[in-house]
Amino acid sequence: MHVAGPLSSRWTAYLGLLSALSAAFAPAVAVKEHDFKKCHQSGFCKRNRAFADHALGSGSWESPYNIAVDSGSFNNGQYQAVIVKTINDSGETVRLPITVSFLESGTARVTVDEEKRQKGEIELRHDSKTRKERYNEAEQWAIVGGLTLDKAAKVDFQDKTQLTVKYGPASKFEAIIKLSPFSIDFKRDGASQIKFNDQGLLNVEHWRPKIEKPEPEKKEGEEDKAEETKEEEPKGEDESTWWDETFGGNTDTKPRGPESVGLDISFVGYEHVYGIPSHASSLSLKQTRGGEGNYEEPYRMYNADVFEYILDSPMTLYGSIPFMQAHRKDSSVGVFWLNAAETWVDITKGKDAKNPLSLGSKSNTNTHTHWFSESGLLDVFVLLGPTPKDLTAKYGELTGTTAMPQEFSLGYHQCRWNYVSDDDVKDVDRKMDKAKLPYDVIWLDIEYTDEKKYFTWDKHMFADPIGMGKQLDTHGRKLVTIIDPHIKNVDKYPVVAELKSKEFGVMNKEGNLFEGWCWPGSSHWIDAFSPAAREWWSSLFKYDTFKGTMENTWIWNDMNEPSVFNGPETTMPKDNLHIGNWEHRDVHNLNGMTFQNATYHALITRKPGELRRPFVLTRSFFAGSQRVGAMWTGDNQAEWGHLKASIPMVLSQGIAGFPFSGADVGGFFGNPGKELLTRWYQAGAFYPFFRAHAHIDARRREPYLAGEPYTTIIGGALRLRYSLLPSWYTAFRQAHLDGTPVVKPMFYTHPSEEAGLALDDQFFVGNTGLLVKPVTEEGKTSVDIWIPDAEVYYDYFTYDITPTTKGKSTTLEAPLEKIPLLMRGGHIFARRDVPRRSTQLMRWDDYTLVVTVPRDAKAPAAEGDLYVDDGDSFDFQHGQYIHRRFVFDGRAGSLVSVDAEGRDPAAVAEGPWMQQMRSVGVDRIVIVGVPASWAGKKTVAVESEGKTWEAKVEFTPAVKGKAAFAVVKKVGVRIGADWRIGF
Ligand code: NOJ
Repeated sequence: MHVAGPLSSRWTAYLGLLSALSAAFAPAVAVKEHDFKKCHQSGFCKRNRAFADHALGSGSWESPYNIAVDSGSFNNGQYQAVIVKTINDSGETVRLPITVSFLESGTARVTVDEEKRQKGEIELRHDSKTRKERYNEAEQWAIVGGLTLDKAAKVDFQDKTQLTVKYGPASKFEAIIKLSPFSIDFKRDGASQIKFNDQGLLNVEHWRPKIEKPEPEKKEGEEDKAEETKEEEPKGEDESTWWDETFGGNTDTKPRGPESVGLDISFVGYEHVYGIPSHASSLSLKQTRGGEGNYEEPYRMYNADVFEYILDSPMTLYGSIPFMQAHRKDSSVGVFWLNAAETWVDITKGKDAKNPLSLGSKSNTNTHTHWFSESGLLDVFVLLGPTPKDLTAKYGELTGTTAMPQEFSLGYHQCRWNYVSDDDVKDVDRKMDKAKLPYDVIWLDIEYTDEKKYFTWDKHMFADPIGMGKQLDTHGRKLVTIIDPHIKNVDKYPVVAELKSKEFGVMNKEGNLFEGWCWPGSSHWIDAFSPAAREWWSSLFKYDTFKGTMENTWIWNDMNEPSVFNGPETTMPKDNLHIGNWEHRDVHNLNGMTFQNATYHALITRKPGELRRPFVLTRSFFAGSQRVGAMWTGDNQAEWGHLKASIPMVLSQGIAGFPFSGADVGGFFGNPGKELLTRWYQAGAFYPFFRAHAHIDARRREPYLAGEPYTTIIGGALRLRYSLLPSWYTAFRQAHLDGTPVVKPMFYTHPSEEAGLALDDQFFVGNTGLLVKPVTEEGKTSVDIWIPDAEVYYDYFTYDITPTTKGKSTTLEAPLEKIPLLMRGGHIFARRDVPRRSTQLMRWDDYTLVVTVPRDAKAPAAEGDLYVDDGDSFDFQHGQYIHRRFVFDGRAGSLVSVDAEGRDPAAVAEGPWMQQMRSVGVDRIVIVGVPASWAGKKTVAVESEGKTWEAKVEFTPAVKGKAAFAVVKKVGVRIGADWRIGF
């Protein structure tokens, strides 16, 4: 990692702050990899790895965890018992209540607690005020459904050593719970899929008192004898990391001592695991215990402001979703580790004889994962698939699916740190228009505020924010302003005064308001876990409170890991306290989500009677954040490697249930060359969230500045995005309904194709059949794209039939002006082809449908769908939407449009938006790959709403590798109506 360019202004600011700080804050020169913990620097990580080394290294290891024989009972889909952990040679034990819940969805959940902490029978050190229990409220934030117990789950077999529970759809799933040592084997159709504690790495660090040892006496002038003393101590457990831990000059007081939970989870016969974003790593996760091409460190999840992050690394980033999927040919299973504390995951793969092949699999590779979290419950959900789609759907049932977005938010976002004044914003707006570059949103970073006091404006530079907002509104455009969670600690700032007086802030370990440093200097942090604080937060966004904002203002939440410049690992001390006296340690990875959630709810209540879908972008996130907005991948760099890395990062987000994601187009730090900038726009046009952003020190790079041919090429990418918006929106609808990712990697769409399982540089968009492989390397003018099936693939722009072989790569020419984009045969997707300035201005435009005829002309159909609603309100929840299904039947010679959900149109009372949609129709239909026999066709018969008429059709014959195609013009059907075209 290196620092790009001159000292960043962030660092200028930071160094300025540091001069005001005491030496105790030990300044680092720049945030580097070593500012973040490696496993050996994180006490519980070191201990769990050492535990694993010991267990796996000893030939005779036996896990000391046994279910007490008569403790178990099974009722209404739930097994409850007590695991007894033997803690020393003299047979002392601790009791760990376990609940295994079998849910109606077919998901199983295993929760382990600790009786002593549950009952509060522990002593806290340092007079701490923290709670004694293990944190048990992560569920309240992350889970929104799917917890109904499966009453049909039943114990199929039981003796003194084990019990077998049959559950799930048609009782195809089984959990074999072994008592001694405790383990669970989850099977599907009789074959083991996932095993818990198979390697004996279950580790629940029970509470223990600290036995204070007298400090060795030190005579004057004598060196520290600690090391020598240690050697003389009797051998026992290594306590060196149990208590207070210091890193980078910060000491964590750990008032509850060691309390981590760890477990090995083996995926039997699975070679690939995916998920647990966010990491700048590959989609198929790497092994983490060393060896060629592997990592040395576990994947870490501890949300942090890792600015200028390094690539190809398991290092933590800004957000965490502890959901992992394992995949082999034709089978997917997964686990969701519900724990919001610092978490690490080790991954190893092996062909061990101990776990025989599972049925039907060619692979005898098992993937062993070892998970450990610093505190909280051990709480794991097990999903048995069998398809990737089952996994995302079941996970979506638990944590919720992506919010139905504001339609504008799928357009292009123009951001930089900073647009310096309202005039600047208006100028950029005009210049985008002049260059005929569509965009929807312009963003204001922190400098718009009056000295970093959120909810205020710099009065000199932004004298007339409403005037600015109005100009944007004339073309349906929006403004996003940043609001961070740190509140400037300064006099005469009502926001901080109220936060202080009402105690809405996060507290320090003594129970006083926590104070730390961020952009504004000394700051306090809103405790968004607190319902009262959230209510207060809502009050701040009312239009007449946050003056200068209006209906087209939306919000960006940054720095919500939270980022604390002088805190350990640039975040909050773990012994800080949140509402209910939960330690920050327990809830750290939830913090960002609670803040975004607070803002989401604030925007819903900005004005009585105004109920619109909020748009909130977040940097930090957890499982469930998808319900309240979009995310981006943080501070990347204007380098080719970062462009390339963005694709697996975005794909990982999608399969982990948070598809509304993107990376800073152009790269945040540094100045991209024009080729890189252009290629980045072409890739960004295929991110679900498409925003360009730049650091304050970076040169201006609005696309009209790029010069020719770059501006024109970038404009082409923007217009491509805009024309495909109906299809993007339809893909988001699917994501909203069942958790399907918006952009899909090969393993997701073609789970039977082994050669595609590790691919992470190409993807499909929704159900469109559009397969894209962005160019991410300098100077490249072609790409090799892997073809997953025997279907025909047409070039999107030329209708060339791409020479392909199933399972092989084919080379696509990709000069700078070209995005490698193929259309798979057998699909129908919708576009809007009239270029306009913003999505709002396109909302009453007619549609173009593109039909791609499949290779096998006799195959029944090309199919596709289109979802459309008002893109703004929640009326879609009351039936105010159009959802069409299009079916092209080559044999019958027809193309029909029917209601995709089989709804009776008469049953829906049409509100104003639906009425207006009556004037919106299908203008053109392009059918690519039609047979030569269509040559003579001049017209086609159209039938809709009791009428028939003829529409003109133009046929273009096949030439030199190009498919023949036909265009039906002025079709004249309403988009919302049933219709049929006979060819
Ligand atoms: C950090 C964010 O990651 C970046 O996008 C933003 O520009 C700066 N904070 C300033 O707000």
